[in-house]
Amino acid sequence: MRKKIIAGNWKMYKNPAEALALVAGLKKEIGAQSAVEVVVCPPFVDLAAAVQAAAGSTIALGAQNLFWETEGAFTGEISGAMIKASGATYVIIGHSERRQYFGETNATVNKRLKAALACGLNPIVCVGENLAEREAGKTFDVVKDHVTGSLAGLTKEDMKTVVIAYEPVWAIGTGKTATSAQAQEVHKFIRDLLAKLFDQATAEATRLQYGGSVKPENTAELTAQPDIDGALVGGASLKVDSFSAIIRNTK
Ligand code: PGA
Repeated sequence: MRKKIIAGNWKMYKNPAEALALVAGLKKEIGAQSAVEVVVCPPFVDLAAAVQAAAGSTIALGAQNLFWETEGAFTGEISGAMIKASGATYVIIGHSERRQYFGETNATVNKRLKAALACGLNPIVCVGENLAEREAGKTFDVVKDHVTGSLAGLTKEDMKTVVIAYEPVWAIGTGKTATSAQAQEVHKFIRDLLAKLFDQATAEATRLQYGGSVKPENTAELTAQPDIDGALVGGASLKVDSFSAIIRNTK
């Protein structure tokens, strides 16, 4: 049985004081529930405050990126070990905004992923096509390329902690959600691909999140799909009400 996982990607929103208040609010609403795994991914500088606020709850913390080197003269970068030391246990890797604005490629996603695994962080690896690619009928090619390239060199053992988030870029922050049928179709494709790349047991055990304009109103239908194991939530994770409603509505 795959435990559903709802993660909030705060992107570049909230300072430490705001993070503390938001996590404290979430803790009050959903802090002790255990049916769904809940992860909150604030900006790096908020992690310490968020970890403190989440103490005593089931809410886990995650970062939104990491650098693959362990330490050194890499001005402005943050290592996996630093994230781990902050108390966070998850890290988002290869989000489409990083692919689009910061030159992230499958090769750099792969390096970050291996670094995350090496220091015991649970990775959430993002894949997904943009609008032009979907309209050109290339969705499955792009998703296959992202999954295969990002996971290159990983073992079945490595896959035990990897979560994959399918996020169609055209659905991110646009209010345009993929229909549950569109999302399920791609999730099934990813699961079948994992069976080919690893084996059936690994494919069955890997959690696949959907991301892109997830909100309380569409959560139940999306998460009721057989291959959708949760959601990576952007905008709607920035408020206690909407994020806790998404967690409650998860099927
Ligand atoms: P959104 O973002 O929920 O605001 O569409 C999702 C994401 O980018 O992870």
